[in-house]
Amino acid sequence: MFQTITFSVYATTNKGDVSSKNFNFTLLNYTMFGKKKQAPQIDKEQLELIKNAQKRIKQKKRLYAHFILFLLGCILLIAANTVLGIGKDFKIAGINWFVYAILIWLFLFLYHMFNVFVTHKFMGKAWEDEQLEKLVEQQQGRIEKLKERFRKEEELKAKSEIHNDAKPETKGASKKKSELTIIVAAAENDAIGLGNKLIWHLSDDLKRFKSLTSGHHIIMGRKTFESFPKPLPNRTHVVVTRQADYSAPEGVIIVNSLEDAIDAVRNDNQPFIIGGGQIYKQALSIADKIELTRVHESFEADTFFPEIDTSQWKETENIFNKKDAEHDYDFSFITYTRI
Ligand SMILES: NC(=O)c1ccc[n+]([C@@H]2O[C@H](COP(=O)([O-])OP(=O)(O)OC[C@H]3O[C@@H](n4cnc5c(N)ncnc54)[C@H](OP(=O)(O)O)[C@@H]3O)[C@@H](O)[C@H]2O)c1
Repeated sequence: MFQTITFSVYATTNKGDVSSKNFNFTLLNYTMFGKKKQAPQIDKEQLELIKNAQKRIKQKKRLYAHFILFLLGCILLIAANTVLGIGKDFKIAGINWFVYAILIWLFLFLYHMFNVFVTHKFMGKAWEDEQLEKLVEQQQGRIEKLKERFRKEEELKAKSEIHNDAKPETKGASKKKSELTIIVAAAENDAIGLGNKLIWHLSDDLKRFKSLTSGHHIIMGRKTFESFPKPLPNRTHVVVTRQADYSAPEGVIIVNSLEDAIDAVRNDNQPFIIGGGQIYKQALSIADKIELTRVHESFEADTFFPEIDTSQWKETENIFNKKDAEHDYDFSFITYTRI
């Protein structure tokens, strides 16, 4: 979650040396809420300073190369005259020509040195100090901002932990903040709907649905929502649609993705996914629990529940109900929890 960044700022000193200053600060990678932010980029002023330092290094390197060349040149000139005898008799005022040549070169070299250290000197000490001061201030400002963000993130985290801890814990109850539960009635062939309607009427199943979901958020696809004559009482409806301007009665929460729906119900300890086929399919991989009413019959349908993978889901409860005067089919209330 934390990352320590060190970077160096280079500047020329009044002696022409390149000095550097390291800045260390700790960055928070915002992975907690799925966001990941990059460290701030080096700004223009810093870049300019670094470029100047690089330029300065090049200048000094060139001067150093010139010096080496000058030394070699002097040796060569002396050798040409004394060893090879080139222009041995050519003298000016009784002094060998190579002495003049060396003096001229020395003059050029000194001129080069003067340029590097005096006339081409970019900035004075005051300027350098000011720049460094500015950079230090900027970095400190950034560090403060990062610290502030980090403090806020920590506060949020602490709050959510307090919320979890404050939940009354019953024996064997999950310590998880929220138990996302799929509730569905499916036939033996996984049929769940036809023509945007339920296929059967089982009053005990409807009663169970009501008792489990009452007081909670219920997440549904737009089609399932439209299959209701009106919103169900005592539940907060969260309707998922891709339509930007979908309108619904007051109190109904409209979201444009399943992720947003989950976000909208984060304070509910047991939000329910109530269908239909499209939403079940997307939610199966993120749900914690399935409350399935298995209707022991097969039906013609246009909407189906996805197959429950028993390597991922464990059956924890199974209550069989025989058909009777009010129920045309046998059915079972089966609870699955994620393994
Ligand atoms: N047996 C049961 O327990 C049970 C329970 C519930 C429903 N049902 C049945 O299931 C059938 C309806 O299911 P269905 O699959 O046709 O429709 P649905 O899942 O209820 O709704 C589908 C709609 O949801 C929206 N949607 C889906 N995924 C989305 C996403 N990722 N982001 C944004 N919006 C998204 C789209 O709305 P837009 O088109 O507006 O963008 C899509 O057309 C009906 O027959 C109903 O009776 C049965």
